Amino acid sequence: MMTAPAELTLVGDEEAQQAFDELIERDQRIEPRDWMPDAYRKTLIRQISQHGHSEIIGMQPEGNWITRAPSLKRKAILMAKVQDEAGHGLYLYSAAQTLGISREEMMQQLISGKAKYSSIFNYTTPTWADMGAIGWLVDGAAICNQVPLCRASYGPYGRAMVRICKEESFHQRQGFEILLELMAGTEAQREMAQAAVNRWYWPALMMFGPPDDESPNSAQSMAWKIKRFSNDELRQRFVGMLVPQAEVMGVTLPDPNLKWNEERQAYDMSPIDWTEFHEVLAGRGPANHERLRRRREAHEAGAWVREAAAEYARKQAERAEGKVA
Ligand SMILES: [Fe+2]
Ligand SMILES: [Fe+2]
Repeated sequence: MMTAPAELTLVGDEEAQQAFDELIERDQRIEPRDWMPDAYRKTLIRQISQHGHSEIIGMQPEGNWITRAPSLKRKAILMAKVQDEAGHGLYLYSAAQTLGISREEMMQQLISGKAKYSSIFNYTTPTWADMGAIGWLVDGAAICNQVPLCRASYGPYGRAMVRICKEESFHQRQGFEILLELMAGTEAQREMAQAAVNRWYWPALMMFGPPDDESPNSAQSMAWKIKRFSNDELRQRFVGMLVPQAEVMGVTLPDPNLKWNEERQAYDMSPIDWTEFHEVLAGRGPANHERLRRRREAHEAGAWVREAAAEYARKQAERAEGKVA
């Protein structure tokens, strides 16, 4: 019968789908060579590459302060932190490559403006205290988001996250420590620290994404065990972590409605102003243009390094084949 091959393929896919579903059900890992549904692959490519782009673009607001850090010690710490973010980008790009997209394609998507990255990195960093607020709040939010991703169902992603999370906790502590020291300083230093916390608090809460009832893709990602907790659950957990730390430092979280709710065993908070988030997402944030311009320039300026590396690899391969003495 003419339809036999199609039917056979269908049976094969159904079996493969079943095997995939069972792996997910048993909380086991999907590995690059395993069969996976197209939509799962596409979702992961999008999520992991966006995550990688965020690490790479995220180097800019802080890289900007390396030469101006107030002491040699702070300079060394900040440099190490920014370098870690480059490493995170590389782990993530490598994880995305196992799904069949090339590094070149991802880079093109980023510099052409087609790919998204976390809009938090489109805000500017006018003072040294912003380094503290970014570490404490932005890396802090990243940790809340990323710790559950260590158990993501896709093996290479989960394993990359384990390494990343270890470094993120150092990032958060260094931010906390910058703010702590400023808060123990002069009146002007305390004001600078508080102003930076005011600037970064709401954008950091927005990093968890839209509220659950407006986040249509979340349910599928949770069913696939890529995502383990909803946006609102993670946001709530983050605020719960910040409150006692803010008390230790003596900074005020800029939300007059922030209050412990005994019944819910969670903090009540003001609604988030999402119009700002959508503006930044639409490319109208304070530094969108600048971030992409600098990334594009760095990519072009680095062309000779990529060419030299490719040429070196080619020669090594030739040598291994015995073509060149
Ligand atoms: Fe990172
Ligand atoms: Fe970080």
